[in-house]
Amino acid sequence: MKVDRVLVDARLATMRPGADAYGSVVPGAVAIAGERIAWAGPMADLPTGLDGAERIALEGRWVTPGLVDCHTHLVYTGDRAHEFELRLEGATYEELSRAGGGIMSTVRATRAATEPELVAASLPRLDALIAEGATTVEIKSGYGLAVEHEAKMLRAARALGRARPVTVRTTLLAAHALPPEHAGEADRYIDLCAGPILDAVAAEGLVDAVDAFCDTIGFTRAQTERVFAAARARGLPVKLHAEQLSNQGGAALAAGMGALSADHLEYLDEEGVAAMARSGTVAVLLPGAFYFLRDTHHPPVDLLRRHGVAMAISTDLNPGSSPLHSPLLTMNMACTLFRLTPAEALAGMTRHAARALGIAADAGTIAAGKRADLAIWDIERPGELAYRIAWNPLHRRLWGGR
Ligand code: NIG
Ligand code: FE
Repeated sequence: MKVDRVLVDARLATMRPGADAYGSVVPGAVAIAGERIAWAGPMADLPTGLDGAERIALEGRWVTPGLVDCHTHLVYTGDRAHEFELRLEGATYEELSRAGGGIMSTVRATRAATEPELVAASLPRLDALIAEGATTVEIKSGYGLAVEHEAKMLRAARALGRARPVTVRTTLLAAHALPPEHAGEADRYIDLCAGPILDAVAAEGLVDAVDAFCDTIGFTRAQTERVFAAARARGLPVKLHAEQLSNQGGAALAAGMGALSADHLEYLDEEGVAAMARSGTVAVLLPGAFYFLRDTHHPPVDLLRRHGVAMAISTDLNPGSSPLHSPLLTMNMACTLFRLTPAEALAGMTRHAARALGIAADAGTIAAGKRADLAIWDIERPGELAYRIAWNPLHRRLWGGR
């Protein structure tokens, strides 16, 4: 076996189905060849003939898959601190949105920014995720809402991926809100999302998946379906902001169209859960938005468990509903607010998050053949990752074996 480096004396939370909920291997070792894991398993079974490889002794530290933040809107400029104050005085997220604030206020700021300005504003946010062990981050457009601005956002996202050792997966979210120049003509705007905008960003190789916001302040099921049909016709996977503020049956629609994930899901009903189970659509839970909007309607975690729907979790990092820059705090919130177990929270930030992005062959567990995207932690047990608040025990992070 040709191997470049070997991590030894580690404790592995492989997150593969195994003896315990973390797929623990103690003591364990990981052999890395180039960007990939060549071998992972118990220390006692470490293959011989690895003499030329660099040996890194981890002194019993825990190694997990690199964290996968599978739902962010981290490319934007401006902030919405003022709306936070207004909400604390009684205004609701929907009211601010209908009054031209909300997503539209970030659209105005983002349209006014150049691509380099967007990159500069967004880099510290990406760095915050990386600092807590993220090795893959999904980034959505959706604050441009016109072809040149959506493309600018996605170019900025790609540029962020080149600027840092992290995998960036891009998602076109043109169907996020109705821009003012199309007021009263949502269907005309959806024609643009499903046609010229999609074609332009796809031609430039800027888009890995397509998303929409199906809700009373977003778009209808029929409009969502048209965007999805166009994406599928172009060979692009789809995912959906569904059932966040009301039950529109969006998750069932998304599942019926083979969506990778349906996200938010506070108002998801059992019919939607069953549809997701049938299609293998991942439920992406976003406790940051639930917390920050002071929501009280919980996503149906027990139903999701009972139907065997995989649950991912994510920061939803965005300026309006979830200005949350911490994957670890997200794991804590998933436990405290949604009653996930710490093992479910870690699986939600690794294995299931990778599935929600359609990259399970490359990321999400510690297994031979996958990318060597790993996080090494100064902890005594993996449940600690979801336990502390505002504490970062990351020792080191490997991305593609480096
Ligand atoms: O995931 N639900 C819609 N989209 C974002 C919020 C975006 C914003 O408020 O700027 C979300 O919560
Ligand atoms: Fe979102």
